[in-house]
Amino acid sequence: MASDQANIAIVTDDPGWHGRQLTQSLEKRGYSPCFIRLQDCHFDLSSDRANIDIPGFDQLPKAAFVRGVPGGSLEQVIYYLDILHGLEHLGVPVFNNPRALERSVDKGMTSFLLKSKAISTPNSIYSSDLHYISNKIHEFIDRQKQVVIKPIFGSQGKGVQRITHKSDLIDYSLMHGVMYVQEYVDSGNSVGVDYRVFVVGNEIAASMKRTGETWITNVAQGGKVEAIKLDPSVEQMALDAVKITGLEYSGVDLIQDKHGKFWITEVNSVPAWKGLQQTTAVNLSDVIIEKFLAYSGLTMQFS
Ligand SMILES: Nc1ncnc2c1ncn2[C@@H]1O[C@H](COP(=O)(O)OP(=O)(O)O)[C@@H](O)[C@H]1O
Ligand SMILES: [Mg+2]
Repeated sequence: MASDQANIAIVTDDPGWHGRQLTQSLEKRGYSPCFIRLQDCHFDLSSDRANIDIPGFDQLPKAAFVRGVPGGSLEQVIYYLDILHGLEHLGVPVFNNPRALERSVDKGMTSFLLKSKAISTPNSIYSSDLHYISNKIHEFIDRQKQVVIKPIFGSQGKGVQRITHKSDLIDYSLMHGVMYVQEYVDSGNSVGVDYRVFVVGNEIAASMKRTGETWITNVAQGGKVEAIKLDPSVEQMALDAVKITGLEYSGVDLIQDKHGKFWITEVNSVPAWKGLQQTTAVNLSDVIIEKFLAYSGLTMQFS
């Protein structure tokens, strides 16, 4: 890839398998992608132009695909989002768009949005008051409910804690002063079983069932995957959830409780699809890139 001719930015600190997949899908369609780190971009406002310097690009990219937004201090995270907003302001389509990323990047806000539209999601509490939260956890336990505590920016099942008894120790260090607690959904199995619905645009690209080695089903934690076709009403629930976040592509996690009811436990704004790709013959990266190009008003580069 000649970076001086790059025309599509893939925003990521860690290209890996997904970066390679996206690169292939873009190159097949005549585009030249280049990976960029938001940490390496700069607002250059030293002339009479509003400009954003992006390493590897002499001119602004035709579009930017967001595969990750790095963490950091509040100032750094706002700065990174400012770069994405700034690119959009300069006419560069950003996918997923920064407003949707902001709305859904944390699990608490996602729960709020789902509840506000009466979409089935477990009861939860989201607060920076740890005293308030611990009282609420005790209320759940008093009602014979278990809870799952999750880092609000968590992914791949890292740092999720299941609380069964009031005496269970909570690791507050993972929470960074804000706690998100969700009622545990009992699927009735001895290990975790849940579903991932991968949504691209207004359509479902693929769905899978995940079975964990423990109560955690993430593929990164040893979860096993198999293709599944979910009931259209469940698919519609996933589509509705993604619509309210404004995401263009997303992975929705659902658990079916032992009574048969489905609950959305998470809507991912930067979903991985490596595990899901094992379950389908459809090239998911191609599907995502087709949507990305359409969203960006771009067509095949080949005539
Ligand atoms: N409310 C819940 N009830 C039961 N298991 C849950 C619940 N929430 C999450 N889990 C389990 O924990 C895993 C990780 O939680 P999730 O909210 O999807 O965060 P992550 O972003 O880390 O994937 C899920 O894949 C699921 O197996
Ligand atoms: Mg998840």
